[in-house]
Amino acid sequence: MHLSRNFALIPAAGIGARLGTDCPKQYLPLAGKAMLRHVLDTFVACEAIAHVFVVVSAEDGYIADLMTAAPHLKDRVTLLYQGGETRHLSVLNGLNAIRNQAADDDWVLVHDAARPGLTGSLIAQLIAALRDEAVGGLLALRVVDTLKRSDEGVPLHGEGSQKMAPTSHVTETVSRARLWAAQTPQMFRYGLLQRALAIAAGQAQQITDEASAIEMLGLRPMLVEGSPRNFKVTLPHDVALAEIFLKEQV
Ligand code: CTP
Ligand code: MG
Repeated sequence: MHLSRNFALIPAAGIGARLGTDCPKQYLPLAGKAMLRHVLDTFVACEAIAHVFVVVSAEDGYIADLMTAAPHLKDRVTLLYQGGETRHLSVLNGLNAIRNQAADDDWVLVHDAARPGLTGSLIAQLIAALRDEAVGGLLALRVVDTLKRSDEGVPLHGEGSQKMAPTSHVTETVSRARLWAAQTPQMFRYGLLQRALAIAAGQAQQITDEASAIEMLGLRPMLVEGSPRNFKVTLPHDVALAEIFLKEQV
């Protein structure tokens, strides 16, 4: 009998335009270690994770030094120099690149390099929650804020947000009932996830997480309570908050 394994796939091929640092943000030092190094250390320390794959850009000039400085990662981490134009394509390229290593029913935990606050216990909670789940699921947080929709022409994708005006007008208040904010890891079976992302890529739809591609197939991923410390470092003011969480003992 084939026992399904858990693989981690880390998209780390972005440039971090909104953070605006000199280096791509995944290499920004936080509490003494590069953001991506925090993520890799967390995954390789996890016994439930069989192997870690990192998708970096073909021109990446930082990852080699990171790996040299962390010899304990060598046997547990494989680099894939196959970053795409978008996060969606980086993940899809990564999945295609490991086709010969992953079976269709192996699990893949896709996790943003930009979420250094992930812990081994959050990974374990996600894996445990999905044990008997057919489709898969993701870490997420219940929305606590009162939500307003504004009257501006908002780009769906976050990439344009650094150019957005600092003010706008309310057109409606959106109920937060049943709303969750998606985090990562997002955990799906290899075969299903590869198919979902490939179909979504062919539809030119803006896919900002794995779950939305799965949902496009009519399936319903499970939401598993995450943690605020697993937030995505996106804007300059996020850096100080990330360091506070990363200095905490967990
Ligand atoms: N990512 C990727 N390939 C891309 C774009 C993003 O692998 N073409 C990765 C990033 O490296 C990051 C994760 O996807 O780990 C989440 O994306 P985001 O936070 O948006 O990072 P960036 O795209 O780098 O930042 P920005 O959108 O501000 O440029
Ligand atoms: Mg981005």
